[in-house]
Amino acid sequence: MNKIPNPSIAENPGTTGPLLEVRGLTKYFPMGSIFRTRQVHAVENASFTVKHGQVVALVGESGSGKSTTIRLIARLLSVTKGEILYKGSNILKSEPGKASLAYRRKVQMIFQDPFCSLNAVHPIEHHLARPLLIHKMVKNRAELRERIYSLLSDVGLNPPAEVASRYPHQLSGGQRQRVAIARALAVDPELILADEPISMLDVSIRMGILNLIAQLKETRGIAYMYITHDLASARYIGDEILVMYAGNLVEGGGGEAIMNDPSHPYTQLLLSAVPDPQSGLRTRKEVTARGEVSSLIDPPPACPFAPRCPKVMEICRHSMPARTTIKDDHWVACYLY
Ligand SMILES: Nc1ncnc2c1ncn2[C@@H]1O[C@H](COP(=O)(O)OP(=O)(O)OP(=O)(O)O)[C@@H](O)[C@H]1O
Ligand SMILES: [Mg+2]
Repeated sequence: MNKIPNPSIAENPGTTGPLLEVRGLTKYFPMGSIFRTRQVHAVENASFTVKHGQVVALVGESGSGKSTTIRLIARLLSVTKGEILYKGSNILKSEPGKASLAYRRKVQMIFQDPFCSLNAVHPIEHHLARPLLIHKMVKNRAELRERIYSLLSDVGLNPPAEVASRYPHQLSGGQRQRVAIARALAVDPELILADEPISMLDVSIRMGILNLIAQLKETRGIAYMYITHDLASARYIGDEILVMYAGNLVEGGGGEAIMNDPSHPYTQLLLSAVPDPQSGLRTRKEVTARGEVSSLIDPPPACPFAPRCPKVMEICRHSMPARTTIKDDHWVACYLY
């Protein structure tokens, strides 16, 4: 498939570095009501980059720290340690005001539940008008209406005038998720943080939303962080895949490399559960995991997958392995390498 020139790069010819760079990002939630001395280690020392116009899929099971990671990036949570660089500037050091308002415009979020993300008492046009007015993106009423209609058509909601006047309860889950995407697009974002955007939708319409995300990446040059439990959709949409386990990133690299040569025993376990796209059957060799998922409360310095790992060694129980490069940008944090 021929790639369409990426507008976000074309507009910023001087931007050679990644769009987003996260270094050593850490989030601990204090626990208990009085002394709060114990902590949930939700995200531990995460480092990765998101390139302009690329999709990074963050995969992991429930409670692994995926939502916390993107909420930290969206500045919905305070950071315990680490740096978040957007186009080279540390956004955690920027003063509240213009710079942070611009960041909040350029980085938008789409949530899992399309039934909760829209306010039932307002019609669809209200949801799209709000960001356009707050960020002063239109000059008059006629322009506002035109922008709303064009956003609705861009996300495949037609006829736009009719959809604009409807209320959220009059739309299906897939249509509501399209409205949520249109709302994010209204302010011309460069990065969309999508937290399991298809997991609550009917299986039959998931593909349409994934294709819309892919199409907007190509036509508008938008970069995404796409969160999922499911390695198959990560592969479908992700230029790069990051695998997270119990707050730690354990493997990362190009989608092809991760699918063809999964190196961490946890990634191998995830992949063994992915059905073959042709037959729908699990044709890959089953990898079995035993033991309990390790606790996130003040965990010891060890590989978090050690208690379940079929290839565990003594050292895995005493220290966290550093990252090893497998090939090019494919890396793994595992003592087997
Ligand atoms: N506000 C909070 N206070 C305390 N603990 C929290 C808070 N938010 C998240 N956690 C804990 O942090 C860990 C990571 O949660 P997170 O929601 O990031 O996981 P997730 O990978 O998104 O899971 P899921 O797939 O179920 O959405 C979990 O143990 C969770 O209970
Ligand atoms: Mg989550």
